Amino acid sequence: MALLENKVAFVSGGGSGIGRAVAEAYAREGAKVVISDINVEHGEETVKVIKDSGGEAFFVKGDSSSAIDNKRMVEVTVSKYGRLDITCNNAGMGGPAKPTGEYEPEDWDRVIALNLSGVFYACRYQLEQMEKNGGGSIVNIASIHGQVAAPLSPAYTASKHGVVGLTKNIAVEYAQKKIRCNAVGPGYIETALLKDNLNNDAMNAVAAKAPMNRLGTAEEIAELVTFLSSEKSSFTTGSYIIADGGYTAV
Ligand SMILES: NC(=O)c1ccc[n+]([C@@H]2O[C@H](COP(=O)([O-])OP(=O)(O)OC[C@H]3O[C@@H](n4cnc5c(N)ncnc54)[C@H](O)[C@@H]3O)[C@@H](O)[C@H]2O)c1
Repeated sequence: MALLENKVAFVSGGGSGIGRAVAEAYAREGAKVVISDINVEHGEETVKVIKDSGGEAFFVKGDSSSAIDNKRMVEVTVSKYGRLDITCNNAGMGGPAKPTGEYEPEDWDRVIALNLSGVFYACRYQLEQMEKNGGGSIVNIASIHGQVAAPLSPAYTASKHGVVGLTKNIAVEYAQKKIRCNAVGPGYIETALLKDNLNNDAMNAVAAKAPMNRLGTAEEIAELVTFLSSEKSSFTTGSYIIADGGYTAV
């Protein structure tokens, strides 16, 4: 039997990069997958890729930085597939590159709204539904910058540290309710987000800083997320697991 047979899963930011790879991995393991994204074309593309390979998926447009949209995304999932077992709260952004003393408050608010408040809103409504189901597994996508600084990206660093803390709180509060919650900390992964935020030289520099001397792939992160979403990790909750080619080990 596939790892996620009969499970209903939700992935935010599933139109690109890590989110798309997670949605595809969930579907390969037998889950019915609801994909949300603010970008309709990209979200629909992920659904098509999954359906073309024989999987089951559905797209719902949503802004992950909005509490109302997060509530609605849970409602749509339940009305489509009847329950919600697994979620990967992945939608996120980098924000501009500036030292903290020059960072615009509006930019701070935008990054925190999506990367931190958005993850809280998602968990807030997912937990309510998972309690009704009698259990579930939440994986929040943080970053290695949930542990070490991303110089010139203060809001990003703060938001990802916040995601790690929120994940631990949820794990403790819901352990008795059979809901697990873990965070994943990817190192530098070759996706649109990285290409939008770093030029070629900067990308080569971060790749060279990792002992593995390369960027990671979205699929490598999706494997870890799938493990944490499945019963294979049944005793793992409140964990923050880094996958970074050794970047933070040095
Ligand atoms: N790429 C990396 O090196 C890296 C490293 C560590 C952590 N991460 C984290 O992984 C997650 C995914 O990043 P990625 O690299 O795959 O990025 P990506 O840009 O390839 O994909 C992000 C997706 O989120 C969607 N999105 C953006 N704003 C949204 C919103 N308000 N509501 C809903 N969807 C929205 C985008 O349309 C896009 O499809 C992010 O949380 C990011 O911080 C990425």
